[in-house]
Amino acid sequence: MSSDNSPTRTGHLYLVGVGPGDPELMTYKAVRILTEAKIWAVPTARENGVSSAQQIAGQMIADKGRTILSLCFPMKKVFLGQETDDQLLMAWRKSADEVIRHLDQGEDVAFPTLGDATLYSTAFYLLAMIQEQRPNVPVTVVPGITAMAACAASQSSPLALGDDVLAVVPAAFEDDRLRQILTTLDSVVLMKVHKRIDALIDILEELELTPHAVLIERSGMDGERVYTDIREARGRKLHYFSTMVIRKKKVQVSNGTHAIAL
Ligand SMILES: C[S@@+](CC[C@H](N)C(=O)[O-])C[C@H]1O[C@@H](n2cnc3c(N)ncnc32)[C@H](O)[C@@H]1O
Repeated sequence: MSSDNSPTRTGHLYLVGVGPGDPELMTYKAVRILTEAKIWAVPTARENGVSSAQQIAGQMIADKGRTILSLCFPMKKVFLGQETDDQLLMAWRKSADEVIRHLDQGEDVAFPTLGDATLYSTAFYLLAMIQEQRPNVPVTVVPGITAMAACAASQSSPLALGDDVLAVVPAAFEDDRLRQILTTLDSVVLMKVHKRIDALIDILEELELTPHAVLIERSGMDGERVYTDIREARGRKLHYFSTMVIRKKKVQVSNGTHAIAL
Protein backbone atom coordinates (compact mmCIF):
# COMPACT_ATOMS: atom_id res chain seq x y z
CA MET A 1 0.00 0.00 0.00
CA SER A 2 1.01 3.61 -0.29
CA SER A 3 3.52 4.80 2.37
CA ASP A 4 2.62 8.52 2.43
CA ASN A 5 1.13 9.08 5.90
CA SER A 6 0.69 12.86 5.85
CA PRO A 7 -2.70 13.89 7.26
CA THR A 8 -3.75 15.66 4.04
CA ARG A 9 -3.10 12.63 1.93
CA THR A 10 -6.06 11.21 0.02
CA GLY A 11 -6.55 7.51 0.43
CA HIS A 12 -5.57 5.24 -2.44
CA LEU A 13 -8.21 3.23 -4.27
CA TYR A 14 -7.30 -0.28 -5.42
CA LEU A 15 -9.53 -2.12 -7.90
CA VAL A 16 -8.45 -5.72 -7.55
CA GLY A 17 -9.39 -8.61 -9.83
CA VAL A 18 -9.65 -11.79 -7.74
CA GLY A 19 -10.18 -14.28 -10.56
CA PRO A 20 -13.35 -16.21 -11.40
CA GLY A 21 -13.67 -18.53 -8.41
CA ASP A 22 -10.75 -20.81 -7.63
CA PRO A 23 -8.84 -18.80 -5.00
CA GLU A 24 -5.56 -20.20 -6.35
CA LEU A 25 -6.24 -18.15 -9.46
CA MET A 26 -5.70 -14.93 -7.52
CA THR A 27 -2.46 -13.18 -8.38
CA TYR A 28 0.27 -12.58 -5.78
CA LYS A 29 -0.34 -8.87 -6.21
CA ALA A 30 -4.07 -9.21 -5.52
CA VAL A 31 -3.37 -11.25 -2.39
CA ARG A 32 -0.75 -8.77 -1.16
CA ILE A 33 -2.84 -5.68 -1.70
CA LEU A 34 -5.98 -7.18 -0.20
CA THR A 35 -4.01 -8.53 2.76
CA GLU A 36 -2.57 -5.09 3.47
CA ALA A 37 -5.85 -3.24 2.97
CA LYS A 38 -7.65 -2.32 6.19
CA ILE A 39 -10.84 -1.47 4.31
CA TRP A 40 -12.51 -3.61 1.68
CA ALA A 41 -15.40 -2.21 -0.31
CA VAL A 42 -17.18 -5.30 -1.60
CA PRO A 43 -19.78 -5.50 -4.37
CA THR A 44 -23.08 -7.26 -3.72
CA ALA A 45 -26.06 -7.70 -6.02
CA ARG A 46 -28.59 -6.88 -3.30
CA GLU A 47 -28.66 -5.06 0.03
CA ASN A 48 -26.85 -7.15 2.66
CA GLY A 49 -26.23 -9.82 0.03
CA VAL A 50 -23.16 -12.02 -0.23
CA SER A 51 -20.20 -10.78 -2.24
CA SER A 52 -18.69 -13.45 -4.49
CA ALA A 53 -15.49 -11.45 -4.82
CA GLN A 54 -15.22 -11.23 -1.03
CA GLN A 55 -15.87 -14.97 -0.72
CA ILE A 56 -13.13 -15.80 -3.23
CA ALA A 57 -10.60 -13.47 -1.59
CA GLY A 58 -11.67 -14.65 1.87
CA GLN A 59 -10.51 -18.18 1.06
CA MET A 60 -6.94 -16.87 0.63
CA ILE A 61 -6.80 -14.02 3.10
CA ALA A 62 -7.59 -14.26 6.80
CA ASP A 63 -10.18 -11.83 8.12
CA LYS A 64 -8.12 -9.73 10.51
CA GLY A 65 -10.83 -7.41 11.69
CA ARG A 66 -10.77 -5.23 8.63
CA THR A 67 -13.65 -2.90 7.85
CA ILE A 68 -16.01 -4.22 5.19
CA LEU A 69 -18.11 -1.73 3.26
CA SER A 70 -20.86 -3.66 1.56
CA LEU A 71 -21.79 -1.83 -1.63
CA CYS A 72 -24.96 -2.82 -3.45
CA PHE A 73 -24.84 -2.76 -7.24
CA PRO A 74 -28.26 -3.91 -8.52
CA MET A 75 -28.08 -6.32 -11.48
CA LYS A 76 -29.41 -4.19 -14.28
CA LYS A 77 -28.35 -3.96 -17.89
CA VAL A 78 -26.20 -1.01 -18.82
CA PHE A 79 -26.34 0.20 -22.42
CA LEU A 80 -23.45 2.60 -22.93
CA GLY A 81 -24.46 5.81 -24.66
CA GLN A 82 -28.06 5.46 -23.52
CA GLU A 83 -29.76 6.83 -20.41
CA THR A 84 -28.75 4.93 -17.32
CA ASP A 85 -31.42 3.54 -15.03
CA ASP A 86 -32.11 5.92 -12.11
CA GLN A 87 -31.97 3.18 -9.48
CA LEU A 88 -28.57 2.12 -10.78
CA LEU A 89 -27.20 5.65 -10.80
CA MET A 90 -28.43 6.20 -7.25
CA ALA A 91 -26.80 2.97 -6.08
CA TRP A 92 -23.49 3.81 -7.77
CA ARG A 93 -23.55 7.29 -6.23
CA LYS A 94 -24.32 5.95 -2.76
CA SER A 95 -21.44 3.48 -3.07
CA ALA A 96 -19.08 6.17 -4.33
CA ASP A 97 -20.01 8.46 -1.43
CA GLU A 98 -19.29 5.72 1.06
CA VAL A 99 -15.86 5.04 -0.41
CA ILE A 100 -15.06 8.75 -0.69
CA ARG A 101 -15.78 9.20 3.02
CA HIS A 102 -12.86 6.89 3.78
CA LEU A 103 -10.56 8.16 1.04
CA ASP A 104 -11.02 11.72 2.34
CA GLN A 105 -9.74 10.58 5.73
CA GLY A 106 -6.56 9.33 4.08
CA GLU A 107 -7.65 5.68 4.31
CA ASP A 108 -6.84 3.29 1.49
CA VAL A 109 -9.74 1.24 0.15
CA ALA A 110 -9.51 -1.99 -1.84
CA PHE A 111 -12.37 -3.14 -4.05
CA PRO A 112 -12.13 -6.87 -4.85
CA THR A 113 -13.96 -7.75 -8.04
CA LEU A 114 -14.74 -11.01 -9.81
CA GLY A 115 -12.35 -12.07 -12.57
CA ASP A 116 -10.54 -9.12 -14.05
CA ALA A 117 -11.39 -5.54 -13.10
CA THR A 118 -11.29 -4.30 -16.69
CA LEU A 119 -13.88 -6.73 -18.09
CA TYR A 120 -17.57 -6.00 -17.43
CA SER A 121 -16.84 -5.08 -13.84
CA THR A 122 -18.77 -2.70 -11.62
CA ALA A 123 -15.34 -1.46 -10.52
CA PHE A 124 -15.27 1.07 -13.34
CA TYR A 125 -18.76 2.45 -12.65
CA LEU A 126 -17.63 3.00 -9.08
CA LEU A 127 -14.38 4.60 -10.21
CA ALA A 128 -16.19 6.95 -12.62
CA MET A 129 -18.55 8.05 -9.86
CA ILE A 130 -15.66 8.65 -7.46
CA GLN A 131 -13.64 10.54 -10.07
CA GLU A 132 -16.62 12.78 -10.76
CA GLN A 133 -16.22 14.15 -7.24
CA ARG A 134 -12.51 13.45 -6.67
CA PRO A 135 -10.86 13.66 -10.09
CA ASN A 136 -7.37 13.22 -8.66
CA VAL A 137 -8.01 10.16 -6.55
CA PRO A 138 -4.94 7.92 -6.73
CA VAL A 139 -6.01 4.60 -8.20
CA THR A 140 -4.35 1.29 -9.01
CA VAL A 141 -6.08 -1.39 -11.05
CA VAL A 142 -4.79 -4.90 -10.37
CA PRO A 143 -5.63 -7.24 -13.26
CA GLY A 144 -7.05 -10.66 -12.56
CA ILE A 145 -7.66 -13.89 -14.42
CA THR A 146 -10.85 -13.60 -16.43
CA ALA A 147 -13.68 -16.13 -16.32
CA MET A 148 -13.25 -16.74 -20.06
CA ALA A 149 -9.57 -17.61 -19.63
CA ALA A 150 -10.44 -20.03 -16.81
CA CYS A 151 -13.28 -21.56 -18.87
CA ALA A 152 -11.09 -22.13 -21.93
CA ALA A 153 -8.24 -23.46 -19.78
CA SER A 154 -10.55 -25.91 -18.04
CA GLN A 155 -11.26 -27.44 -21.47
CA SER A 156 -7.55 -27.44 -22.44
CA SER A 157 -8.65 -25.24 -25.32
CA PRO A 158 -7.27 -21.97 -26.67
CA LEU A 159 -9.50 -18.92 -26.82
CA ALA A 160 -7.77 -17.78 -29.99
CA LEU A 161 -4.76 -18.84 -32.02
CA GLY A 162 -2.90 -17.61 -35.08
CA ASP A 163 -5.17 -15.37 -37.14
CA ASP A 164 -8.32 -16.15 -35.10
CA VAL A 165 -10.37 -13.07 -34.30
CA LEU A 166 -11.97 -13.23 -30.87
CA ALA A 167 -15.16 -11.44 -29.78
CA VAL A 168 -16.40 -11.14 -26.22
CA VAL A 169 -20.13 -10.54 -26.12
CA PRO A 170 -22.52 -9.95 -23.23
CA ALA A 171 -25.40 -12.25 -24.21
CA ALA A 172 -28.07 -9.65 -23.43
CA PHE A 173 -27.47 -8.52 -26.96
CA GLU A 174 -29.43 -7.95 -30.10
CA ASP A 175 -29.93 -11.32 -31.86
CA ASP A 176 -29.14 -10.13 -35.38
CA ARG A 177 -25.89 -8.53 -34.29
CA LEU A 178 -25.03 -11.71 -32.41
CA ARG A 179 -25.75 -13.81 -35.52
CA GLN A 180 -23.47 -11.56 -37.52
CA ILE A 181 -20.65 -11.88 -34.97
CA LEU A 182 -21.07 -15.64 -34.79
CA THR A 183 -21.04 -15.89 -38.58
CA THR A 184 -18.05 -13.68 -39.23
CA LEU A 185 -15.69 -14.21 -36.29
CA ASP A 186 -13.60 -17.26 -35.47
CA SER A 187 -13.93 -17.39 -31.75
CA VAL A 188 -16.73 -15.96 -29.59
CA VAL A 189 -17.16 -15.80 -25.82
CA LEU A 190 -20.69 -15.25 -24.57
CA MET A 191 -20.91 -13.86 -21.05
CA LYS A 192 -24.04 -13.53 -18.87
CA VAL A 193 -25.82 -16.31 -20.77
CA HIS A 194 -27.89 -17.59 -17.84
CA LYS A 195 -31.22 -15.96 -18.68
CA ARG A 196 -30.99 -16.41 -22.44
CA ILE A 197 -29.73 -19.92 -22.77
CA ASP A 198 -32.66 -21.32 -24.79
CA ALA A 199 -32.60 -18.44 -27.28
CA LEU A 200 -28.84 -18.77 -27.63
CA ILE A 201 -29.06 -22.49 -28.25
CA ASP A 202 -31.65 -21.77 -30.99
CA ILE A 203 -29.29 -19.33 -32.69
CA LEU A 204 -26.31 -21.66 -32.43
CA GLU A 205 -28.37 -24.56 -33.83
CA GLU A 206 -29.57 -22.37 -36.68
CA LEU A 207 -25.92 -21.51 -37.49
CA GLU A 208 -24.83 -25.15 -36.98
CA LEU A 209 -22.40 -24.07 -34.30
CA THR A 210 -23.47 -26.23 -31.37
CA PRO A 211 -20.62 -28.74 -31.97
CA HIS A 212 -18.14 -25.88 -31.49
CA ALA A 213 -19.64 -24.56 -28.26
CA VAL A 214 -18.99 -25.39 -24.64
CA LEU A 215 -20.80 -23.94 -21.65
CA ILE A 216 -19.17 -23.69 -18.23
CA GLU A 217 -21.21 -22.93 -15.13
CA ARG A 218 -19.46 -21.84 -11.91
CA SER A 219 -15.95 -22.48 -13.21
CA GLY A 220 -13.59 -23.25 -10.33
CA MET A 221 -16.40 -23.07 -7.76
CA ASP A 222 -18.45 -25.65 -5.88
CA GLY A 223 -21.09 -26.99 -8.24
CA GLU A 224 -19.02 -26.41 -11.37
CA ARG A 225 -20.73 -27.92 -14.39
CA VAL A 226 -19.53 -28.26 -17.97
CA TYR A 227 -21.89 -28.77 -20.93
CA THR A 228 -19.89 -30.07 -23.87
CA ASP A 229 -23.22 -30.57 -25.62
CA ILE A 230 -24.82 -27.21 -24.93
CA ARG A 231 -28.25 -28.51 -26.01
CA GLU A 232 -28.36 -30.29 -22.63
CA ALA A 233 -28.61 -26.88 -20.97
CA ARG A 234 -31.93 -26.15 -22.67
CA GLY A 235 -34.62 -25.32 -20.13
CA ARG A 236 -32.18 -25.31 -17.23
CA LYS A 237 -31.98 -22.56 -14.65
CA LEU A 238 -28.33 -21.70 -15.01
CA HIS A 239 -26.29 -19.84 -12.44
CA TYR A 240 -25.33 -16.25 -13.28
CA PHE A 241 -21.73 -17.45 -13.40
CA SER A 242 -22.09 -19.19 -16.75
CA THR A 243 -19.99 -18.55 -19.83
CA MET A 244 -20.08 -20.05 -23.31
CA VAL A 245 -17.01 -20.38 -25.49
CA ILE A 246 -17.43 -21.01 -29.23
CA ARG A 247 -14.31 -21.60 -31.31
CA LYS A 248 -15.16 -22.45 -34.87
CA LYS A 249 -11.85 -23.31 -36.43
CA LYS A 250 -10.35 -26.73 -36.24
CA VAL A 251 -7.48 -26.15 -38.59
CA GLN A 252 -4.44 -28.11 -39.62
CA VAL A 253 -1.10 -26.36 -39.65
CA SER A 254 1.51 -28.14 -41.69
CA ASN A 255 4.78 -27.63 -43.53
CA GLY A 256 4.14 -30.39 -46.02
CA THR A 257 5.70 -33.17 -43.95
CA HIS A 258 4.29 -32.50 -40.50
CA ALA A 259 0.70 -31.52 -39.65
CA ILE A 260 -1.05 -30.79 -36.39
CA ALA A 261 -4.69 -29.95 -35.73
CA LEU A 262 -5.41 -26.77 -33.78
C1 LIG B 1 -20.17 -9.02 -14.56
S1 LIG B 1 -19.39 -10.23 -15.53
C2 LIG B 1 -17.83 -10.29 -14.73
C3 LIG B 1 -16.71 -10.74 -15.61
C4 LIG B 1 -15.37 -10.74 -14.89
N1 LIG B 1 -14.95 -9.40 -14.57
C5 LIG B 1 -14.26 -11.45 -15.70
O1 LIG B 1 -13.17 -10.91 -15.81
O2 LIG B 1 -14.50 -12.57 -16.13
C6 LIG B 1 -20.16 -11.69 -14.97
C7 LIG B 1 -20.06 -12.80 -15.98
O3 LIG B 1 -18.77 -13.38 -15.91
C8 LIG B 1 -18.84 -14.76 -16.17
N2 LIG B 1 -18.31 -15.50 -15.01
C9 LIG B 1 -17.81 -14.97 -13.88
N3 LIG B 1 -17.36 -15.94 -13.06
C10 LIG B 1 -17.58 -17.11 -13.69
C11 LIG B 1 -17.33 -18.46 -13.35
N4 LIG B 1 -16.77 -18.79 -12.19
N5 LIG B 1 -17.68 -19.41 -14.23
C12 LIG B 1 -18.26 -19.10 -15.42
N6 LIG B 1 -18.51 -17.82 -15.79
C13 LIG B 1 -18.18 -16.84 -14.93
C14 LIG B 1 -20.30 -15.08 -16.45
O4 LIG B 1 -20.52 -15.01 -17.84
C15 LIG B 1 -21.00 -13.96 -15.72
O5 LIG B 1 -22.30 -13.75 -16.20
